[in-house]
Order: sequence, then structure tokens, then C-alpha cells
Amino acid sequence: MTNMKRTHTCGELRKKDTGRKVTLMGWVHRRRDHGGLIFIDLRDRDGITQVVFNPSIDSEVHKCAHDLKSEYVLSVEGDVNLRPEDTENPNLSTGEIEVIANRIDILNSSIPLPFIIEDDTGVAENLRFKYRFLDLRRSNIQKNLILRHRITKAVRNFLDSHGFIDIETPFLTRSTPEGARDYLVPSRINPGLFYALPQSPQLFKQLLMISGFDKYYQIVKCFRDEDLRSDRQPEFTQIDLEMSFVDMEDVMNLTEELMANIFNETKGMKIDRPFPRLSYQDALDRFGTDKPDIRYGLELKDLTDLLTSSGFKVFTDAIGIGGKVKGINAKGLAVLSRKEIDELIEKSKSYGAKGLAWMKLTDKGIESPITKFLSDDSIKSISKRLEAEKDDLLLFVADTLAVVTEALGRLREDIAEKLNLINEQEYSFVWIIDFPLFEYNDDEKRLEPMHHPFTSPIDEDIPFIEPEPLKVKAKAYDIVLNGNEIGGGSIRIHRKDIQEKMFRAINLGEEEARTKFGFLLDALEYGAPPHGGIAFGLDRLVMIMSGVDTIRDIIAFPKTQKATCLLTNAPSDVSKDQLKELHIKLDIHKI
Ligand code: AMO
Ligand code: AMP
Repeated sequence: MTNMKRTHTCGELRKKDTGRKVTLMGWVHRRRDHGGLIFIDLRDRDGITQVVFNPSIDSEVHKCAHDLKSEYVLSVEGDVNLRPEDTENPNLSTGEIEVIANRIDILNSSIPLPFIIEDDTGVAENLRFKYRFLDLRRSNIQKNLILRHRITKAVRNFLDSHGFIDIETPFLTRSTPEGARDYLVPSRINPGLFYALPQSPQLFKQLLMISGFDKYYQIVKCFRDEDLRSDRQPEFTQIDLEMSFVDMEDVMNLTEELMANIFNETKGMKIDRPFPRLSYQDALDRFGTDKPDIRYGLELKDLTDLLTSSGFKVFTDAIGIGGKVKGINAKGLAVLSRKEIDELIEKSKSYGAKGLAWMKLTDKGIESPITKFLSDDSIKSISKRLEAEKDDLLLFVADTLAVVTEALGRLREDIAEKLNLINEQEYSFVWIIDFPLFEYNDDEKRLEPMHHPFTSPIDEDIPFIEPEPLKVKAKAYDIVLNGNEIGGGSIRIHRKDIQEKMFRAINLGEEEARTKFGFLLDALEYGAPPHGGIAFGLDRLVMIMSGVDTIRDIIAFPKTQKATCLLTNAPSDVSKDQLKELHIKLDIHKI
């Protein structure tokens, strides 16, 4: 180790520091040999400073600089100098100065790297994840993690100043159902028994309300064994909160204030409030999804009533069996070639549609494979409803409502991208409300809670929970940001009789309900206050605010799509002894 002491970071020095004697420590980002002079870009978390080694200042130090390689760790002492005219680097915060070295200690060397430390590496993610400790040296990933830190700090400050108390809840617990599979942990001391890692702290935060904590929050890991996508990780972090004696408006107002505060504190951005609200049904009808990106229009329009007696069999057949025909106006996209339209058709098929009918409005009139089946009046009324003008491309899907919604909802996103309609600098929040309390799971032929089974129905629908469950609306709300569900919550059931009704409605027998949730049912009998809350997906929020496409870029040590960690090689084999201790026998059939 050196006896030098760091005086500044590599991102700190400015013109006003000219003439100072400084000591910097960091990594060799790049080395350039310019005849006699050697330039080192010295890098640390804070930035990059150009260090100059001049043989006429100290030949020993200069010689040493000659042998430096990428990612060597240095301590450098020198004088801050104004860079000669025309050699300033406006892309660096330290770009006006350089440090003329007069002493150097090599603190450590580095073997050649598997990839260079650059913001835009074209390097495959697998290699980056294997060497994540190097990948994390890239300044853009560091920037994301620093933003994440600043966001959680803003959240803590805000919630603290609003009277919330941070309370930890257990990881080794019973299943908390949020719709995914549990991660199980065997208990050595209790052979054959398992803990479940929490899918969320839902039940504990409700119990804390019953204990009288009034306002709770936690920034907490949750674990869900589900199929992974770019916005999902098996372990992820929630900003989780719960409040007593509140209604939906209270939780929604606090959320809006919290979000506005986060954007103000971390980006200096003003967020417009109140956030717009859409009912679940309107979101599906108009945008084809319950997490709509409302930065652009391109709304879906129902055309069923205009086409019931059209001559196009694809449409009338679908309508005949109770389906729908909906359309979307891809404004200005009549310029697409047949090949590009075929690509859209293929896309729609990958989204579940059987096909995609289209109509182009061009100079020469209407161009379409289906107009021959439609009367002039039909064409006119369709065009009118879709507000079609010259140069527009109209797209139609006929099928069951669910298929039409999914396919057009997803095509809407593709078209927005094609049309460059998305303003990346814009942050558009929208609340989704008026959710049904239940949904019907067609595969398993049973009723499921749309959120979780602790969500309260609206008061006037309580009598319908058992006789007409699908009619019942929930006191639930999701918050969507730029087309991503970043949070969800509800007012909870605080009465035991209603909680029992709820369990019965989802076919959870009395005995099973007692075994799984007896502690909650008991607690509800001891003066449970009305309460409600919400949880935000911190990772998704940071992902959107960082402007990256995957949640993996804002998590220090993420898992792959296959839920593995390429750095540590988790999950891994364990020894026979460990399994024996846990009373576990493996029964694996390799396919
Ligand atoms: P929910 O299941 O909607 O609600 O989760 C809240 C938010 O967490 C984020 N999220 C995820 N982020 C990354 N990877 C995942 N696998 C993942 N799953 C969910 C989403 C989501 O909106 N207990 C309730 C909240 C409540 O009712 O208060 C709950 O967990 O952004
Ligand atoms: P077909 O009669 O199957 O050749 O289809 C004629 C046109 O209708 C083609 O452009 C198909 O892509 C389109 N089409 C087929 N099925 C559907 C559907 N369910 N919804 C909308 N268009 C469809």
C-alpha cells in the first residue's frame, strides 16, 4: 500500500483548482503514448481525469507510466494544470484541466480484461454477467445504481417526514400468495417442513396495522418463482407501505406526492398532478391492456356493430360466435410496403390473432384485400369511426374479445415505435381503478382474486361476493408509468366475516383457510382497524427513470432469464451431507 493519501476523486478537479498539488487514486481507463508524453485517463466512480507523464519532469515516473496497462490501480500525485488551448475535452467534467504527475504508486495490476470498460459495450450479456464486477465498472451502470440509491433515499426521507415507520418483516415465513410460485427453504430442525420466502410482506404489514403502528413502510426484497421477462426478476425490491384509517383517495394522494417528490429530488422534474385515472374496463377497451402507455393515442375502436352484416366471412364468423372486430388507425402509415404489412400480420399472429386485415387510404383511393367484401357504406362508417384520413393505415382484428384486445394492444405499441410517437423524456402516470375483485381462470376452471385475497370489495358489492362474484368490484388501484405497472395496492378486508366470504368464493375450504391464514383470521377478531396500502416495484421505477430496457441494468447482481447467477453459478449442487441433514432425497428425471 502507498503512503499517499487521496485528496480528490477523479471527477472533482476544475479550472479553479489549477496550481494545486493533488493525489488521485483510480484505475487506468486508457493509456495513450504521444512520443515523449504519456497520457493516462484515470477513472474512479466519480469520473475521469487526464494524467500526463512528462519525461522532462521526472524520468523515473515517466518510465513507470510506460508499463501501465488497462485497469491497473494507481495512486498519482501531481500538479493541476490548465489544458493547453484546443485540447480541452468538453465531454469530461474535468475536461479543462489535467494533472502533471510527479509521483506514482502502482497499487495493483490487472490481467487482460475479457472486455473493455466502455459505456456501449457490444459484449454479450452472458459474458458481462460472468464478470459482473468488471461490468459494474462501466459508468452508465454505476450511474443507474447511484440513481437507485438516490431514489431510495428520497423515498425514505419522504416517508419518514410523513410519519411512516420502517419495520422489517421475516423472510423465513409462510406462503404469502401474490399469484406466483413460492421459493421454499427446508427446515433442518423441523424435518419435512419448509419455509416460503415472501412474495410480498402483505400479511405482516396488515398485522402491523392491527398492532397499531398506523403507518408502516419497508424497502424490501420479495421472492417470486415465475417466468422471467425483461421487467421481472425472481428476487426484486418493493417499496411497501400500509396505512390505517384511510380510504383509496388517501393512499392514491400519498402515492402521487411520493412520486412527484422522487422525480423532483432525483431529476429536478416537476410531475403534473393529479394523475389521470382509467377504469380497468376502459383501459382494456381503449388501449388493449391494463397497463397502457398513454404518452400516445392510437386507441382501439370497436367496429363490431358496423360489421355484423358485412360480407367478410372472417368478421361475420367471429361476430356470430360472440366475438368482436376492433380496429386501430396507424396514422400516416399508408406508406408501409406489402412486406412491412406482412411483418405486422406475422406479429399479430404471434400475439394470438388469426390474421390482420388492413386498409390503406392513398392518393389513388382505398387499397385493401378486404374492401371487395364490404359495402361503400361500411367502409365509410369504419373510416369515420377510426377518424381515417388520406395516408392512414387501418388495421383490424376479429376474434374473441380477449384475443382482439391482446393482439391490437400489442400492435399498438409496435406501431407507436414505428411512428416514433414515444417521447422518451416524458413520464406519464396513470391510475387503473375499478378492478373486478375476481377473475375467472379458464385453464384451471376456477375463480381467482384479481390482486390478492385480502383486497376489499367496494361496500355496495359485499352482498354479491358469493352469489355473483364476477360482478364485484374491488377497492384496488394499480399505478402505471409509461406502459409499465410500477405499483399496486388496495384497501384491505378488515372484517373477519368478509375475509371468510372471500376465501369461500375462491373455493378455499374452511379447514384450508384456517391452516393457511388462521393467524390472520384470528387477528381480525381483535380490533383490526380499517387499513390499506400499496407496493411499488422499485426496480421497475428505477429502470424507467434510468431509461434502460431491462431491469437487469439497474440491479447490481441480477439473475438471467433462467434465474441463474452467472457470477456465482447459483443455483448449484449441494453435498449429500447437506441434503441428508435436511432430510431431502432428490428425484430428478433428466429429460
Ligand atoms: P404486486 O404483486 O402488484 O402487489 O407487486 C407490486 C409491484 O411489484 C413489482 N413486481 C415486480 N418487479 C420485478 N420483478 C417481479 N417479479 C415483480 N413482481 C411484481 C411490480 C408490481 O406492481 N402485496 C401487494 C401490494 C399491496 O397490495 O400493497 C403486491 O405485492 O411493479
Ligand atoms: P383469408 O380469407 O384467411 O385469406 O384472410 C383475408 C384477410 O383477412 C387477410 O389479410 C388476413 O390476414 C385477414 N384475416 C384473417 N383472419 C383474420 C382475423 N381473425 N381478424 C382480422 N383479419 C383476419
